[in-house]
Amino acid sequence: MTSPRLLLCCGTGGVGKTTTAAALGLAYAIAGYRTVVLTIDPARRLADALGLSHLDNDPQPVDLSSLSVAEGGSLHALMLDRKATFDNAVRDLSTSPEAAEKLLANRYYQAASTRLTGAHEYMATEKLHQLLTADRYDVIIVDTPPSRHAIDFFLAPRKVQELFDGPVVRRLVNPGRGLTGGGTRRLFAWVLSLVGQDVVDDIAEFFRLMGGVSEGFARHGAQVETALHSKQTDLLLVTTASTASRAGAVSFIREAAAEGLTLHGFVINRFIEPVDVPLHALHPAPNDVSEPLWHRWSVALRHEAVRRNAIAERHHAAALDLSQTAGQVPVWALPLLTEGLGSVTGLRQLAERLPPLTPPLLGPQS
Ligand SMILES: Nc1ncnc2c1ncn2[C@@H]1O[C@H](COP(=O)(O)OP(=O)(O)O)[C@@H](O)[C@H]1O
Ligand SMILES: [Mg+2]
Repeated sequence: MTSPRLLLCCGTGGVGKTTTAAALGLAYAIAGYRTVVLTIDPARRLADALGLSHLDNDPQPVDLSSLSVAEGGSLHALMLDRKATFDNAVRDLSTSPEAAEKLLANRYYQAASTRLTGAHEYMATEKLHQLLTADRYDVIIVDTPPSRHAIDFFLAPRKVQELFDGPVVRRLVNPGRGLTGGGTRRLFAWVLSLVGQDVVDDIAEFFRLMGGVSEGFARHGAQVETALHSKQTDLLLVTTASTASRAGAVSFIREAAAEGLTLHGFVINRFIEPVDVPLHALHPAPNDVSEPLWHRWSVALRHEAVRRNAIAERHHAAALDLSQTAGQVPVWALPLLTEGLGSVTGLRQLAERLPPLTPPLLGPQS
């Protein structure tokens, strides 16, 4: 089994991360790779971008029959469902089907699987592990969750290991240990009198059964952590040419470096390029060519060309600046589309500007 390539789309919310992940998925599929796009963003944008009515926790095929796709290429998409992923993992990792069913029915499990802080990221790790080991994909693209600290997602696999393999859970899942001192026994008797034997039994059972699966969760976390830090993984930072986005990009690069992660490249979305067609092709002359109207039209065209080229110059400078900040990494640029997003044919307009279909605008291969 060869390890699939893992491409992680990072960036703050609203820059076009989900759209870029969808377009990248399409680009790899068109180039002949068996590709899957996983979104961890609870918003339904990935389905919208691919023109699908809905997505769920299992990879769903995307119909590419309207496009010309290299042999072998396919695209699947899925949206992380935290609870379903937790339940499936429990079924896979429990020592027996009976133990799994008991844990799934336990009321403390139900609370933990829906309300545990960080559960979304933990289950993203688990889902990624499933995709990495499925032996069905050449390329896995992840639309990382929008979070205050973009780097949080990459810390989750280690947190999973710490949580499930750490001293707290070990102590709790190991009955007898921790209940030995006289003070602890008195405390326990007091808790028992407050909540009753049923509750205590449920809690004890929760920790006992969780103990059976926690080793598996920790092992998966360790495997994903290794994959994220290996050569099979590339980080792409999706951003825009605005100053605020660039400031965010710079702090992301710093945080990633501190975690031993290196940036593979940038995708600058909504990138304006210099006008390469005569503007009168875009804005036909008015039919009525009376002198004042004609004059207004030609002045407006000249202004628009000047304005647009000034923006294009700023965007190009921003792209250069970003690439240099990250050590000359490649930069791909996506145009601002005025229509067409919401179907694979529309999305192809963006896919055609991305790897592996197109070399970067700037960078080593340009
Ligand atoms: N290059 C583009 N041209 C036109 N619209 C875009 C482009 N990129 C993104 N959008 C639109 O912007 C909105 C936000 O994009 P999305 O990919 O959901 O951002 P994010 O995932 O970063 O929050 C969506 O409505 C999407 O269709
Ligand atoms: Mg998104």
